[in-house]
Amino acid sequence: MKQPLFKDIQASPSGYGSIHLDREEFVAALGELDSMDEIGALRKSAGELKLLIAGSESGQSVDAQGNGDLVTLRRDVLASELDQILEARTIERAKYYVKRLERGVKKVKTSSLNDINLHRWKEHTEIVTDSLWIMPKRDHTGAHLAWYWGNFVPQIPHQLILRYTKKGEWVLDPFVGSGTTLIECRRLGRNGIGLELSAEVATRAEELVRQEKTRHSAKTDIVIGDARTIDAQRALANSGANQIQLLIMHPPYHDIISFSDDSKDLSNASSTDEFLKMFGDVLDNLDPVLERGRYFALVIGDKYSKGEWIPLGFYCMSEVLKRRYSLKSIVVKNFEETRAKRDQKQLWRYRALVGGFYIFKHEYIFVFKKK
Ligand SMILES: C[S@@+](CC[C@H](N)C(=O)[O-])C[C@H]1O[C@@H](n2cnc3c(N)ncnc32)[C@H](O)[C@@H]1O
Repeated sequence: MKQPLFKDIQASPSGYGSIHLDREEFVAALGELDSMDEIGALRKSAGELKLLIAGSESGQSVDAQGNGDLVTLRRDVLASELDQILEARTIERAKYYVKRLERGVKKVKTSSLNDINLHRWKEHTEIVTDSLWIMPKRDHTGAHLAWYWGNFVPQIPHQLILRYTKKGEWVLDPFVGSGTTLIECRRLGRNGIGLELSAEVATRAEELVRQEKTRHSAKTDIVIGDARTIDAQRALANSGANQIQLLIMHPPYHDIISFSDDSKDLSNASSTDEFLKMFGDVLDNLDPVLERGRYFALVIGDKYSKGEWIPLGFYCMSEVLKRRYSLKSIVVKNFEETRAKRDQKQLWRYRALVGGFYIFKHEYIFVFKKK
């Protein structure tokens, strides 16, 4: 056996706890581990590999020259996979872990919905899979300036886009407001179309979205119009799309914030029933452009009116379920505390104690799949 076994592997530290390895050499080293018949020798070699990787952190190892195909691995995940090999009690178990690691380096396995490599799913720790989203701070980076009253935190479209689209696919947000969804599309290399009733808001959003730097060739457009009646097929065609693969809707939470004086604005609906009728009209208008089998995420919160909790979220969910959608998840997301809310905290607490209610601290993200 070659000594030391892993001297040929070139590793270099890269950014946030990740490591670049020469794919071919790393696969060859794993192949050598796999060919061993004795657990002691296998452990010894796996231990050498672990040391080499740990050493690269302090810059001891040689930088990859870039002539080979590099694979980038999360250092902590790789270390834990090597630990599993080291701690295996039998040679068969150790080889099972070696083969699993090799598969993750050699092959990419994705579903038809996104680009998550399922062979290396442990590395995707940025993707939330729990139904409770506590996001203490909004993302303020790049063009996310949070200038628009009633916007959502960028992390919402970020999560949804990563989970339900592949690079180059199309996202539609018919209540695009300040363009949060489109900024995320640019970052993540997805194409995005936004609809917005207010020309003024759309124009400002368009300018800011364009300022977001992208290293992808993502296309983003905002079309001014009423999401209930706009010719969605034509809007898509003008942008070069035929169908969309993800629909993200963040409508007004009825009249909680008045977005304009326009009677076509959902925030001006005269009653909950009228709001739901308008919301249903948007659904019917846009449903045809969403590809079957793909996802629709609705972000909405509830409201109070005359001492009663109005479950707008669940009412809207029922509207969707009357159509050809199945419910995949109900996510509950915390409201971040704004300065205005902080200043009024005690007043709201008093009101809640007197009025027998609880203070809103959450909104919903309903996730549906089109049948
Ligand atoms: C809750 S905000 C969306 C905010 C957006 N997610 C963001 O991060 O900026 C709802 C938006 O829907 C728009 N809107 C209301 N009625 C509409 C309609 N019928 N068609 C299109 N947009 C509408 C409002 O002008 C407002 O900008």
